[in-house]
Amino acid sequence: MLDSKSGPVIITSALPYANGEIHLGHISSTYLPADIFRRYLKLNQIEVYYLCASDDFGTPVLIETEKKKIKPEDYVKYWHDKDIEDFNSAGIFFDSFSQTSSQTNRKFVQYVFNILRKKDLIYQKVVVQYYCEKDLKFLPDRYVVGKCPYCGAMGQYSDLCEKCGRIPEKILDPKCAICGLPPIRKESNHYFFKLSNFEDVLEGWLNENKFLQHDVKKYVLNWIVEGLQDWDITRDIHWGVNIPVEGNEQKDKVFYGWFDNHLCYISSFIEHLGDINKAREKWNNSKIYHFIGKDIVYHHYLFLPAIRIGIDKEYKLPDFIPTRGHLMLQNNKISKSRNWYIGLREFVELFHPDYLRFYIASICNYSQDDTNFDWNDFEKKINNELIANIGNFVNRTLTFIKKNFDNVIPNPKEYDELDKKALTEMKIIGKTVGDFISSNEIDKALKGILSFSSVFNQYFQRKQPWKDPEQSGSTLYVSINAVRSLSILLAPFVPFSADQIWKQLSLEGNIHEQDWDSIGTILLNPGHKLGNIEPIFKKVDNDKIKEQVNKLNNR
Ligand code: 2FM
Ligand code: ZN
Repeated sequence: MLDSKSGPVIITSALPYANGEIHLGHISSTYLPADIFRRYLKLNQIEVYYLCASDDFGTPVLIETEKKKIKPEDYVKYWHDKDIEDFNSAGIFFDSFSQTSSQTNRKFVQYVFNILRKKDLIYQKVVVQYYCEKDLKFLPDRYVVGKCPYCGAMGQYSDLCEKCGRIPEKILDPKCAICGLPPIRKESNHYFFKLSNFEDVLEGWLNENKFLQHDVKKYVLNWIVEGLQDWDITRDIHWGVNIPVEGNEQKDKVFYGWFDNHLCYISSFIEHLGDINKAREKWNNSKIYHFIGKDIVYHHYLFLPAIRIGIDKEYKLPDFIPTRGHLMLQNNKISKSRNWYIGLREFVELFHPDYLRFYIASICNYSQDDTNFDWNDFEKKINNELIANIGNFVNRTLTFIKKNFDNVIPNPKEYDELDKKALTEMKIIGKTVGDFISSNEIDKALKGILSFSSVFNQYFQRKQPWKDPEQSGSTLYVSINAVRSLSILLAPFVPFSADQIWKQLSLEGNIHEQDWDSIGTILLNPGHKLGNIEPIFKKVDNDKIKEQVNKLNNR
């Protein structure tokens, strides 16, 4: 269990490619779970840094900018800025959101490469690359599509099979992604990272680290048994970090995006603190969490740790790599190319961002299993759980005090058994929910909050304060304190609404700076006047849901 004595925490989320809008799939696999965790840590007074950046390099960006005839720098800046706006609109805030193309990252990548080179972990080799005679260029990664040699899936990129999650050594039946013609083969001099040297040390690290998810570890260990291939870390394109080797000033060879992007976790921290020595020291004294989706397990469980080990752990390895499955949409795989996805921006223009956070958190299990976004399930969960359970308890308590006690918290009488039981629930709920968030099980944490709220709905119901309002002091005093507890419990999940509850309680300070431990304490006293009371949530309209389902089906 984390507490303020266990030191700082650094959280990262997989860097989104600066090549398209953020959609619900991104939110579910990494950003929301990481944001909930960050908010929880802050409420526990833990020093926390949530770092991210746009992943600017790579062939998809180049392919797009060539099509659009614009500069890659302008293109990635556009997505970088848009991503920040989109994330913020959903209540997701970073301490730093940098770019892999930043000067700090470029310098850091070259620094790491030079160390690896000195340590003889890099070698050069002439490789035969695909080359398109029509487009007159080498065709790395996404410039070539074909059949995955492992699972046989068609239409896969040469650098990643999206079906089986593996990196094809050699794609079958290759075609140029620009013109569709089969490419020829041409020689080029490349740099390789000796990943194969690290089999034993990675195996040891995986076996020792008890915090990595068991199921992921198992299949990563299997990959090691099958043997690790060295990584070609250069590409014959002009958009990327230059290779700092004398005589290698040619502009059409750069580092592969996967060599530089994960280094941006560290370089963005250096940039954020503005002092490399301080950053290194803090990094090494922190617990490191890299939140990812299951499609980039290979990169984070093998390649990333090998590079950090390769530079003598100058920056420590991750303690946790929370890995989640994909989000499906109406039981079908999300696909941008088939237009089967919901953009984050599109969603928050339709519904309150807290509805998205609540729903995604409720279906977001901590495992490799895929989860499913379903519009009807969304409607049901928001109306029946967020509104009919939580919203109802909050609103009935506030409204009762407004109507019967002139908006002022009444004095309690002597507690009966029901009151005492309710107060006990209040004492333990912070730990129950907190433990789940700490262990990344946000769906279970949310269930805990819902059951707390339904216990209080039942309490209210059984106490029947409406029968004799004058004698209902204890009920309302206990209930209003439970509303306060509930608002803090909800703060990591539905931050905007939690803030509204806080304001209606007319409490001082920022809810997001409260103390999680205070959840179990009675802090609202008799005589305290409440603020302006109004319903926090608005029901989701079934017609609006039907419209969304139709819209998707007609795409
Ligand atoms: O798969 C992706 O979307 C990549 N842009 C993730 C990069 S994470 C890295 F930086 F480690
Ligand atoms: Zn071509």
